[in-house]
Amino acid sequence: MRKSLLMVLAVMFMTVCAAKEPKVLITYFSASGTTKSLSQDLAKATGADLFEIEGAQPYTAEDVNLGNREARAFKEMADKAMRPELKENPKNLKQYDVVFIGFPIWGNYAPNIIYTFIEKNDLKGKTVIIFSTSGSSELTNSFNYLKQQYPDLNLVEGTTLKRNPTPEARQQVIDKLKAAIPAQK
Ligand SMILES: Cc1cc2nc3c(=O)[nH]c(=O)nc-3n(C[C@H](O)[C@H](O)[C@H](O)COP(=O)(O)O)c2cc1C
Repeated sequence: MRKSLLMVLAVMFMTVCAAKEPKVLITYFSASGTTKSLSQDLAKATGADLFEIEGAQPYTAEDVNLGNREARAFKEMADKAMRPELKENPKNLKQYDVVFIGFPIWGNYAPNIIYTFIEKNDLKGKTVIIFSTSGSSELTNSFNYLKQQYPDLNLVEGTTLKRNPTPEARQQVIDKLKAAIPAQK
């Protein structure tokens, strides 16, 4: 009896030791710093690596000037096929099991540079958790479009951080995103 109990405990111990932590990368695009700061805090909370998605041509304040309908962001929003070039791609993407992709919601969708990022990097087989920051929009519309465009990817809907959050609301977003990381088999 005692012997078999010890055996069971030994097997349980080995199982716990064998479960490895998933390797997590947080990628994000941020034009005015909100998504960047959220991503940095999420990286601190999860111990994940960080990668900033940047345009080969950087986004200036004028590019995202909501008062100027001729601004670059409006041109990109008007043409879903537009693929702004990336400055660079993350190195050693292969090693990651989970990749977060964060962005500001633009016109109720992800900015086009997110499509470039997804198409230029091999995310197949990984858990890809989508999150955003926004004025007031929910993530769902942006997420559903991504799901439709990239049906072969394992995309998971995270959440959005809305403008002027209380510290508690901000923490809730971080906790929710952290909880979306699947336990490694
Ligand atoms: C071009 C543009 C379009 C935007 N469209 C939306 C929108 O559709 N819904 C929304 O809630 N917020 C919208 N916003 C607000 C941003 O999503 C929000 O300010 C975001 O937190 C900015 O993130 P960032 O500082 O990382 O760039 C838009 C902002 C810009 C510049």
